[in-house]
Amino acid sequence: MKKFVWIILITSLAVIKGLFAQEAPSKEYKANYEQVMKRTEWWRNSRFGMFIHFGAYAVPARGEWVKSRERLTTEQYQKYIDDFNPIDFDAKAWAKTAKAAGMKYAVLTAKHHDGFCLFDSKLTDYKLSTRFGGRDLVREFLDAFRGEGLKVGLYYSIIDWHHPEYPNVGNHPQRDHKEYSKRIFNWDNYLKYMHGQVEELVKNYGKIDIMWFDYSFDQYSGEKWKAKELVDMVRKYQPEIILDNRLATHEGSSSKQRMVKILGDFETPEQGIPDVPLVDKYGNPVPWETCLTLNGGWGYTEQDHNWKSPELIIHSLVNCVSKNGNLLLNVGPDARGNIPEESIGILTEVGKWMDKSGESIYGCGSSNLTKPDWGRFTQKGNTVYAHWLYPNLGQLNAKGVDSGNVKNVYMLKSGAELPYQNTWWSNTETGNFFITVGSSTEKPVKYDTVVKIVLKN
Ligand code: GLC
Repeated sequence: MKKFVWIILITSLAVIKGLFAQEAPSKEYKANYEQVMKRTEWWRNSRFGMFIHFGAYAVPARGEWVKSRERLTTEQYQKYIDDFNPIDFDAKAWAKTAKAAGMKYAVLTAKHHDGFCLFDSKLTDYKLSTRFGGRDLVREFLDAFRGEGLKVGLYYSIIDWHHPEYPNVGNHPQRDHKEYSKRIFNWDNYLKYMHGQVEELVKNYGKIDIMWFDYSFDQYSGEKWKAKELVDMVRKYQPEIILDNRLATHEGSSSKQRMVKILGDFETPEQGIPDVPLVDKYGNPVPWETCLTLNGGWGYTEQDHNWKSPELIIHSLVNCVSKNGNLLLNVGPDARGNIPEESIGILTEVGKWMDKSGESIYGCGSSNLTKPDWGRFTQKGNTVYAHWLYPNLGQLNAKGVDSGNVKNVYMLKSGAELPYQNTWWSNTETGNFFITVGSSTEKPVKYDTVVKIVLKN
C-alpha cells in the first residue's frame, strides 16, 4: 500500500515538473531570433504598409484567382493579357496616396500566380514590358515609392499557373484536365526559372526591403522550393532584406513552428487579426503582419462594393499594434492603373486620423494593461496610448495604471491636460484610474480618440 502511495506521489511530481519545464532555446535559435528582431526593427516600428495587387487579372475584374477559379486555359486567359494596357499607371500618384495614408512601406505584386510579370524579366516573354513602351512597372514602382521615403517590397508568387514546367497541382487552373495531366513536368527546370526570376529582382533593382513570397501548400513547401538555397541567394544580394514565412507555409504557423520553420522573418495572418500577440514556443514575441483587403478582393473586383469603413480599418490597425503586429492594407488598382476611388476615399480618412494620431501607432506595441471595454491600449516605452474606440459616458478607466507613477495625462490631438482620479462614484476599489474625457455623443476625434498617459517609469 505504502509503495503504491509513493509511486503515485513520484509520478505526480514528475508530471508537474514536466508541465513547468521549459525547453531552453538552442544557441543557434537564439542567434537567429536576435537577427530577426534586429532586421525587422524598422518594419516593426513602421506598423502600417500598403499591399498592391496589380496585374492582367484587373481586366476580367473578378479577382486574381479568376484563372484558377474558372479553370481557364492559357489560351483563354490570353485575351486578358492582350487587353491589359494600364495607360493611367502612375507610380508616383500611388506613392503619394500611400504616404498620405500614413503608410511607411509598400509591397507590389511583381508576379502573381498567373505568372504574368510586371517586371522586365529576361527569363520570359510573358511580361508587360514586351509592349507598353518596354516599361518596367516594378522599377517605376520602386523609384516612386523610394522617392516618397517609403520602404519597398515585392510580392513574388512561387506558384506559377502559366509556366509549362509547373505541374497542375493544388489550385492550378488545369488541375482536372486529363490531357494536361499527361504532360511531363520538369520540376528542376521550374525551380531554375523561379530562382532565376527572384535573382533578377534582388540583383537588378537596388535595395529591396521586403520580399513577400506566396505560397506553400501540401508537400510544396520549404525544401521542395529549395528554400534554403533561395534564401541564401536573396540574402547574398540583400543582406538586410526581410522575408515573410510563406516559403514554408500559407498563412500562420503554430507557435511551435514560428521562427523555426524556415527562414522567414515574420508571420502573415490573412484577413484576420490574432486574438493575442503572437509568440514562439518559448514565449518570445514574434513579428507578424495581418494582410487585409478593403473590399473582398486582392485584385480589382468590379462588382464588389462591400467596402470596409475607415473606422473598421483604423480600429483594425490599432488592434494589430496593440498585439505587436503590423497591418498591410491592400489596394487593387483597375485595368487602367487607377486605385479605386472608394479605396482612395477610405485611405484619405485613415490618413487624416494618422496625421493627428500616428504617434500612438509608429514604434508602439502591446501594453501590459488589460484591454478595457471602451477600446484598446498601445504603448511605447513609458507612454501608454488609450484608444477610445467605443461609446462611453465620460470616464475612461485605464485600470492598472498606478497614479503614483503618472507624470501626466493628455488629449493627444490638442496636448490638453486631462483630469484623473483613482475613485469615481461607487467605484472605490483599488486599481482603478479614471480619466475624465467629458461625455459626448461623438468622440472628440472621429473613429478613435487617443489619450496619452505618460508614466514616470
Ligand atoms: C493568398 C492568395 C493571393 C493573395 C495573398 C495575399 O495567398 O493566393 O491571391 O495574393 O493571399 O496574402
